[in-house]
Amino acid sequence: MFFFGTNLKMHGTVAEHMAFIQKIAPDIPRDVNAFVIPPYTSLFPLSQGEKPVQICLGAQNMHWADEGAYTGEISPTMLSDLGIGLVMLGHAERRYKFSESDFVIRKKVIAAAKHNLCVLLCVGETAEEKNAGLTEIVLEHQLRVALDGLSSLPKLLVAYEPVWAIGEGSTEAGVDDVTRGMKAVHDTIRRCVKPQSKVPILYGGSVNAQNCTQYAGLELVDGLFVGRAAWTVSGFTTVLQQALSIRNSTKPEHLISGGDLNETAL
Ligand code: PGA
Repeated sequence: MFFFGTNLKMHGTVAEHMAFIQKIAPDIPRDVNAFVIPPYTSLFPLSQGEKPVQICLGAQNMHWADEGAYTGEISPTMLSDLGIGLVMLGHAERRYKFSESDFVIRKKVIAAAKHNLCVLLCVGETAEEKNAGLTEIVLEHQLRVALDGLSSLPKLLVAYEPVWAIGEGSTEAGVDDVTRGMKAVHDTIRRCVKPQSKVPILYGGSVNAQNCTQYAGLELVDGLFVGRAAWTVSGFTTVLQQALSIRNSTKPEHLISGGDLNETAL
């Protein structure tokens, strides 16, 4: 089972997102866990209309409280009300452009567990942290603060997204960097997620049709989380098909062991 999704960030209109979802759906194979994370304005109409079954819709963020005096925020209760089952937490743009701390993210993870929402938890080091040799320490810290010692964990996916590789003008990550980050994420999850269960780890950050095969072919990569390159129908389907071509040719064991991921199927 391969995970593949896109975060549409603050782009597009309801009509564009509706057309996008309808058009990408037929090209998504059944053994792919596909998800699209649109802005809230589109989340509502998309969740109410007829949505292709092969695509899971997610929210880009949420508050930790069920309700309250939090102007401009959306609560887990509101997401559940729409039937939304997936929420992205800790995206680099929330951490660094909106000063969201690890401890705020932990509160949101706890709220997601309470409301039975699947969390796509994003972690990643900045360029300064990487250059200072702190990649492993930063990833471990972000994951531990978000997850360690929680009495109840939500259904969980983790996306490793180095901050220096995200968005326009960023640096494309090399295979060595991705392998190193994925290993740190994998090792920390093994230590702090109890009881031990398979947590799929996705890679994200400037993934596109040219570089996706080198990431999708890595042993620890269970899926790809794509931004800009997947915002068009042809972009989404091309990156997905390229990624699957390398998976299916070089890593049949992933398909064979797909049953292990049922627990985390979206
Ligand atoms: P990008 O975005 O693929 O456009 O770099 C990735 C992300 O923000 O998750």
